[in-house]
Amino acid sequence: MTDRIVVVANRLPLRRTEDGWETSPGGLVSAVVPFLQERGGSWVGWTGVPDDAPAPFVHDGIEQRPVRLSQSEIDDFYLGFSNATIWPLYHDAIRSPEFHRHWWHPYVAVNRRFAEQAADALQPGDLAWIHDYQLQLVPAMLRQMRPDVRIGFFLHIPFPPVEILARLPWRREILEGLMGADVVAFQTRLGRHNFGRAVRRFLGGEGTTRWLRAGERSVRLISAPISIDWEGYASLSASPSVGARVAALRQELGVDRKVVLGVDRLDYTKGIDVRLRAYDTLLRRYRERAEDVLFLQVAVPSREEVGDYSAMRDEVEGLVGRINGAHGELHHVPVHYRYGSLEPEELVAYYRMADVMCVTPLRDGMNLVAKEFVASRPSDNGVLVLSEFAGAAQELRQALLVNPYDVDGVAEVLWRALHLPPAEERSRMRAMRRQVQRHDVFRWARACIEAIQQ
Ligand code: G6P
Repeated sequence: MTDRIVVVANRLPLRRTEDGWETSPGGLVSAVVPFLQERGGSWVGWTGVPDDAPAPFVHDGIEQRPVRLSQSEIDDFYLGFSNATIWPLYHDAIRSPEFHRHWWHPYVAVNRRFAEQAADALQPGDLAWIHDYQLQLVPAMLRQMRPDVRIGFFLHIPFPPVEILARLPWRREILEGLMGADVVAFQTRLGRHNFGRAVRRFLGGEGTTRWLRAGERSVRLISAPISIDWEGYASLSASPSVGARVAALRQELGVDRKVVLGVDRLDYTKGIDVRLRAYDTLLRRYRERAEDVLFLQVAVPSREEVGDYSAMRDEVEGLVGRINGAHGELHHVPVHYRYGSLEPEELVAYYRMADVMCVTPLRDGMNLVAKEFVASRPSDNGVLVLSEFAGAAQELRQALLVNPYDVDGVAEVLWRALHLPPAEERSRMRAMRRQVQRHDVFRWARACIEAIQQ
């Protein structure tokens, strides 16, 4: 008997380099890798490239088990069912989800392939830890193949209210899939409650908000908000090279100007458009002088082949152009926009340099950017403007919370953020820093693994 951990996630924790592989940065990876290295383990996932499935190999002490996806499965399983059906549906249907049987069948087939690969990787006594909305059928499939192992599932995105889930023609199958786990974990209490209601409604299940029974299955529900590697961010931020970069950026952007920062994957759930409109309102109506403040938006490319994503990119870039056209002068640009990703050092320098961080999703499972900003502050200053519809708002109560559906309200709060009395700024930031420091990602991973083991 061993107690290895087999992680099953859509993506492997690796990316290809010219001469091999490197571990990708990212919250889940940095949290889980140390546990797998300590206890031994495997990671089942996709390389991100069509038809790319090298034989299992060991990297950094972890067995990597690539799962093959053909180009048509990328279209139907990944871009289609995962990201144009489930993703919008679970984010309050803020874009219309599409329902197609020719996407559903590949979703089932690909989930089965992940389950088979996991079943093969699991040794007696190991536990399986399945991640996210792309793989909701894997728990029940894996249980059939390997009734001897403990199975946990963690949903990184919100779980929707029953009224919204009801639209999904395959709601029963999805719920039965998830009920194959011993533990189903959510980011927030709301997700856990929504799931409980859905199982009662659509599977005739019964139980409490912590234990559910449906048919043969008895499943534990937990909420476990994911977090970040506090130490990693704090120490990178304190490094001399980041310090030098912050000073250089400040010189470039103007030492006296306040900087409002946004950093997101370019996704319509993130409310990048909302905050740009709010910034425009701030400049128009609040007489905030464009030369005293600048908005820096980093938009990381994501799922560009999905129509709603490219439409959002056009909208965001149109807004940037309009705001700069309306409020810019030769010597200053109100919105600096960057479409691309940043190296960790550069990202942390941006977090450190910003006066106000603006996180305004219309719906978000957690939002780690908010936590990364807090961890990267060199001291107790800096203001976080945070949507109440981000999971992070449940923990970061001392942020300036906003309703992203109320653009005027966001503008008002932005003004307040730029003029917050220093003592209030410090006490808010101090409390948030304490919260994130105590509840880092390692604590999250430990809590999840312990729950699965029980
Ligand atoms: C969100 C999801 C993850 C996903 C990530 C990047 O955080 O919860 O499951 O991996 O976005 O998206 P991508 O589609 O590029 O994997």
